[in-house]
Amino acid sequence: MDLRRVWKLVSSLSSRNANSCLRKIFNLTSHRNCSRSAAALWPQLSSGIKPMEANLVVTEAVELKLLSLEHTEQLFDLVDGSRDHLREWLPWVDGTKTSTDTESFIKSALRQYEAGDGPQYVVFHEGSMCGVCGFHLFDLANRIGGVGYWLSRAYVGKGIMTSAVRSLVKIGFNEHELNRIEIACAMGNARSRAVPERLGFTFEGVLREREHLHGRYVDHALYSMLASELLAFDKALQRSSR
Ligand SMILES: CC(C)(COP(=O)(O)OP(=O)(O)OC[C@H]1O[C@@H](n2cnc3c(N)ncnc32)[C@H](O)[C@@H]1OP(=O)(O)O)[C@@H](O)C(=O)NCCC(=O)NCCS
Repeated sequence: MDLRRVWKLVSSLSSRNANSCLRKIFNLTSHRNCSRSAAALWPQLSSGIKPMEANLVVTEAVELKLLSLEHTEQLFDLVDGSRDHLREWLPWVDGTKTSTDTESFIKSALRQYEAGDGPQYVVFHEGSMCGVCGFHLFDLANRIGGVGYWLSRAYVGKGIMTSAVRSLVKIGFNEHELNRIEIACAMGNARSRAVPERLGFTFEGVLREREHLHGRYVDHALYSMLASELLAFDKALQRSSR
């Protein structure tokens, strides 16, 4: 089997098809001996990472890199340096006590990605790590993806997350063939709600007492965008960037 040709083929597929293709390849070839060059390609293939979605250039200043274990220490430091700001709306912050906790989170995000259930990205602004955004576990039966995000305090107010989520929406519909993308935020989290609102998501309503946050239940605002709305979304973006 010519693995380079396989890799080229896999890279041209949408992520969902690429992942199912990779699974088939492994089942077919796992009992065979690989040549040295094939073995060199193996880690790339077995990670299921497609080059086009490993790094997303969002704007001149903003870049998304697929979350990986090499980000562990820096990511933990970012959370640690922004605890008060993040914990107000994110329940997992208090449980992130050491970089081992961050490592566990990254490992579970990688398992999710490798299973074809949604990528998570580290956000960089002018080369500096500043936050995370990505998909919660896909609901593949219904082709739904939920988006989550956070920025460290110093990077709020620059338009970084709106542009990052714009890119996630595009790969969600175009690469992962989702039909619906959801964003749910605590009703009182005005900055978070402003992200889907800026991107033209539809506000669908209130999910009552949807989250247990620091000893109280909070209502969520649910926003969505459908694949059929992407064209209108693109046109609105073009108009706003003129
Ligand atoms: C939610 C969160 C990521 C939003 O951050 P944010 O900086 O407000 O969002 P953006 O990066 O899209 O930036 C928008 C801000 O930049 C400004 N901005 C500057 N240039 C901009 C541009 N080109 N495009 C859009 N906004 C721009 C906007 O005016 C806005 O500021 P304002 O609210 O003061 O008017 C951040 O507040 C956060 O991490 N909070 C804690 C964690 C959290 O709540 N996560 C979400 C849980 S659901």
